[in-house]
Amino acid sequence: MTDQYAVIGNPIGHTKSPLIHGLFAEETQQDMVYTAIEGLLEPDEAFADTVRAFVAAGGKGMNVTAPFKLKAFAIADERSERAELAGAVNAMKFEDGRIVAENFDGIGLVRDIEVNLGLPMAGKRVLILGAGGAARGALLPFLSARPAEMVIANRDVTKGRALAAKVGARGPLLACGYGDLEAMGRFDLVVNATSASLTGELPPVPPRVFSPEGTAYELAYGKRLTPFLRLARNAGVRTVADGVGMLVEQAAEAFDWWRGVRPQTRAVIDRLTVALD
Ligand code: ATR
Repeated sequence: MTDQYAVIGNPIGHTKSPLIHGLFAEETQQDMVYTAIEGLLEPDEAFADTVRAFVAAGGKGMNVTAPFKLKAFAIADERSERAELAGAVNAMKFEDGRIVAENFDGIGLVRDIEVNLGLPMAGKRVLILGAGGAARGALLPFLSARPAEMVIANRDVTKGRALAAKVGARGPLLACGYGDLEAMGRFDLVVNATSASLTGELPPVPPRVFSPEGTAYELAYGKRLTPFLRLARNAGVRTVADGVGMLVEQAAEAFDWWRGVRPQTRAVIDRLTVALD
């Protein structure tokens, strides 16, 4: 039987995952189908029931998107360290009646920055805006890339501090408020991991954090020039990017994990890229 995969979320209408995994499957000649499932928000156990029904029908793996990443975390039998730290799961594999859970968002982001944008993070100064799920997912993969210094800025400073306390031993990580950034100099890479762009808002980041030779990266994708990217560009930043590469790279990680074969990503990224201007 053809192996079944799916992405589950709510809403799910705009997901690109079936297209991405369909292209990967075609390229690597895998016998699989990948569909989108709109999960029910209620009752509480609806998510787990839908996942179990998918497994019972022969499902081999699932991607998980908003608002189910925490629920997926809760129902997993086994979680990677990345997923543990993120407190969220974006990919599941069903093996011998067990749910094995992963979070590939951060690793996809690092791959996009280092491989696709050609910006090795080792020795660089990195600033992450936000301390929610998206920022948490990025922390371990970022620290593994050995930046010289990593700063998390968040409106709610206690949230950032709690995060830094949790992973601080892994590398040079510091948490602060936006106001503190005024005195911290320029960063080689500034990543907007807040959810501000989803509502067209701008995190209160001072323009002086940007370096003209540096990179500004927006995790949201397909939203063209967001207020954050516009700010970066006005500050003279040469490389501004949105999260389309991260989206495709995290999908490639999951595909490799499920199928044991690594798909090419360049053509898929090019196909999904929406011009910023
Ligand atoms: P996600 O899973 O997408 O990261 P989340 O866990 O709800 O979503 O976290 C949202 C993050 O965006 C938080 O860090 C939030 O900051 P606070 O913790 O201080 O609330 C941040 N955020 C949302 N809107 C923002 C805005 N307009 N300016 C700055 N930060 C914002």
